[in-house]
Amino acid sequence: MPATVNVAFVGCGGMAAHYLGVYRDLDFVRVAVCIDTNLDAANRAAESVGAASSCDYPAALSDGIDAVVISTPNSAHRPQAIAAIEAGKHVLLQKPVAASLSDAEAIATAAENSHRTVGLYMSYFDQPLIHDLRDLAAQGRLGNIVHYYARLMHKGGMMWSEQALKGIRTWRGSLQETGGGCFIQLAVHFEWLSPARIVRVAGFTRNLHSPGLEGEDLATAILEMDSGALVTLDMAWCSDDEQLSVHGTLGRVNYRNNRWLDMASTAGPFQGRVIRYSGGPVAAFGGEQGETQSMEIRPPAFDDISNPLNQHRVFLEAVRDGRPAPVSIASGVRDMRIVSAVYESAKTGRAVEVS
Ligand SMILES: NC(=O)c1ccc[n+]([C@@H]2O[C@H](COP(=O)([O-])OP(=O)(O)OC[C@H]3O[C@@H](n4cnc5c(N)ncnc54)[C@H](O)[C@@H]3O)[C@@H](O)[C@H]2O)c1
Repeated sequence: MPATVNVAFVGCGGMAAHYLGVYRDLDFVRVAVCIDTNLDAANRAAESVGAASSCDYPAALSDGIDAVVISTPNSAHRPQAIAAIEAGKHVLLQKPVAASLSDAEAIATAAENSHRTVGLYMSYFDQPLIHDLRDLAAQGRLGNIVHYYARLMHKGGMMWSEQALKGIRTWRGSLQETGGGCFIQLAVHFEWLSPARIVRVAGFTRNLHSPGLEGEDLATAILEMDSGALVTLDMAWCSDDEQLSVHGTLGRVNYRNNRWLDMASTAGPFQGRVIRYSGGPVAAFGGEQGETQSMEIRPPAFDDISNPLNQHRVFLEAVRDGRPAPVSIASGVRDMRIVSAVYESAKTGRAVEVS
């Protein structure tokens, strides 16, 4: 295994700026080259980490590179990831895996045969809270889960629409480059929270006020799980406010705007990574409820290398130690199946089974 992991950093835009610091600060990592079709963006990124810069993707495939980190628009993921895998590189790919299910499957096939550390970057898994929520459900600490609710809205509300009205084109406006609109960008990997699997979906999508956006700026989906639980997902580029709620027969958790969490449970105390629920007067949930306790929980920064869950750090350690990536490409393909089913339902007006 390499003592130093030499990285080619591909796509130096908005997301990359959030986490490039991880690659600068981890002592076993060296960014050899920053690559972007926009040379100014490549130069800026390269300067911040003391790397070379390039506009040419093949620079990522040269002999001195161990791992390729891809943060480019969705439609570039397939050619770039497959070329890197075929060149024997380890690969970390931004979510969603690709702009289409067939592109995602092609990347997964290449990854399966590669014997390299190839995976998906899921920023939510940086958050200890997300792992606590998964544990609460898996351990039955909220009883049987009956409903999940997630509302994810683009921060800044109407900003996207202003951009569209000014005629500023970005890849997010293109159906071909994105694979959809707000749903594919915001709703992936939800199933990971639950031990149950999604079996059927009904979706509704609209674009009522973002003329520069070919995909939807508003999407609502109802998903049915094999446990019988229902999931409601509200996603938008055209609104604000965020929420993640889990309701079970013994308790509930409600997390708002990435900051405030309320929890009630009749199943006793729970000490997770960040959730500290001390329990309370116990009575049947649904009649008298467990005591509601409120706590402030802020997500860690994208570039916090002291966070053991930081998904870049976990990936780079896996490369160094010869382990699989924390989030497999195959699990991202599963997400794409659900996204595709929601889009099919929105188009046909029928509920769609998820295989
Ligand atoms: N995990 C998350 O929370 C999260 C959030 C936002 C975006 N994303 C994903 O991250 C990826 C990048 O999104 P972003 O918000 O940083 O976009 P962005 O537009 O800010 O940056 C993309 C960069 O890639 C460059 N680029 C475009 N085509 C290229 C190519 N073929 N080769 C090299 N460089 C190219 C652009 O010039 C730009 O600098 C997308 O896949 C997106 O879905 C993930």
